[in-house]
Amino acid sequence: MKKWLKRIGLGLLGLTVLVVTTIYIGGEIIINRTYEPEAQNLLTSSRPDVISEGERLAKIYGCSEGCHGKDMEGQVFFEQAFLAKIIAPNLTRAVEQYSTAELEAIVRQGIKPDGKSVLGMPSASFSYLTDNDLSSILAFISSSPKINHDPGESSFGLLARLGLLTGQYRPGAKEVESIQAGVNTSSSAGMGKGEYLAITACSECHGLQLEGDFGPNLAIAKAYDLEAFTALMRDGKSVGGNELDLMVLVSQKRFIHLTDHEIEALHGFLQSR
Ligand code: HEC
Repeated sequence: MKKWLKRIGLGLLGLTVLVVTTIYIGGEIIINRTYEPEAQNLLTSSRPDVISEGERLAKIYGCSEGCHGKDMEGQVFFEQAFLAKIIAPNLTRAVEQYSTAELEAIVRQGIKPDGKSVLGMPSASFSYLTDNDLSSILAFISSSPKINHDPGESSFGLLARLGLLTGQYRPGAKEVESIQAGVNTSSSAGMGKGEYLAITACSECHGLQLEGDFGPNLAIAKAYDLEAFTALMRDGKSVGGNELDLMVLVSQKRFIHLTDHEIEALHGFLQSR
C-alpha cells in the first residue's frame, strides 16, 4: 500500500516538473523569437522648436512623466510575483546606445536591436505615430541630460510565460504585425487629429479598438460634453461621479499637455463613434 502511495507521489511530482519545464521553455521560445524590422528612414533634428514639441509629446505619450520615470531615467514599471518584473529602460542612455533606425524599430515596430520583441512597451499603439511626431520625441530625448541609473532587466515568471503560450499576452512585435501597421505613415494617413490622438495616446490602456482593455470601453466618453471632457483630460474629473484612479494620474501628468484644439478634436472623434 505504502509503495503505491509513494509511486503516485513520485508520478505527480514528475508530472509537475514536466508541466513547469514545458511552460518555462515554451515561454522562453516566444520571448526569444526574433523579428525583422522594416527599414524606415526617419530624419532627426536638433532645432529648438522641434525639441520643445518633442518634450510635450514625450509627456503626453508617457515616455517621461510616466512609464520610463519622470526624467526618463528608467524604472520598474510593473512587478508581481510569478507574473513579471517589467523594466522601462533608461531612455537617456538608450538614445546614446542605439541608432535612430534602431529606436524607430523599437518604438513603432516593437523590435529591439537584437531582433527580439518588446514586452511591455505599447508599440502597437505607437506604430501609428507619424514620422514627424516620433522624430520630435527622439530629438527631445537625445537633448535631455544623461542620467546614470541602471533600472535592471525585465524578467518573466511562470504566469506570464503561460499567458504568452495561451495567447493571453502577445509580444509587441507580433501585435504590430497583426494590425499591419508596421509602416506608420500609411496606417495613420487617413486619420483626423482626434482619431490619431485616440489611437496613439488612449489605446495603450483602452485597447486598440478603444473598446476596453484595462481601462473601460471609450463609448463611455459620449456622456461627456466638451467642458466636462476638458475637465477629465486636465484634472481626471469624472462626469458620472465614478471614482477615477489611474485616469487621474494620466490626466494630470500627461494629458494636461494636450492643447485645447487637440482636446476638442479628441472629443469630436469620441462623440462620432
Ligand atoms: C495609462 C492608462 C490609461 C491611458 C493612457 C488612458 N486611460 Fe482613460 N482610463 C484608464 C483607466 C484605468 C480608467 C478606469 C478608471 C480609473 O481607474 O481611473 C479610465 C477611464 C476613462 C474614462 C471613463 C471615466 C468615467 O467617467 O468613468 C474616460 C472617458 C477615459 N478614461 C478617457 C481616456 C482618453 C480620452 C484617453 C486618451 C487621451 C485615455 N483615457 C487614456 C486608463 C487610461
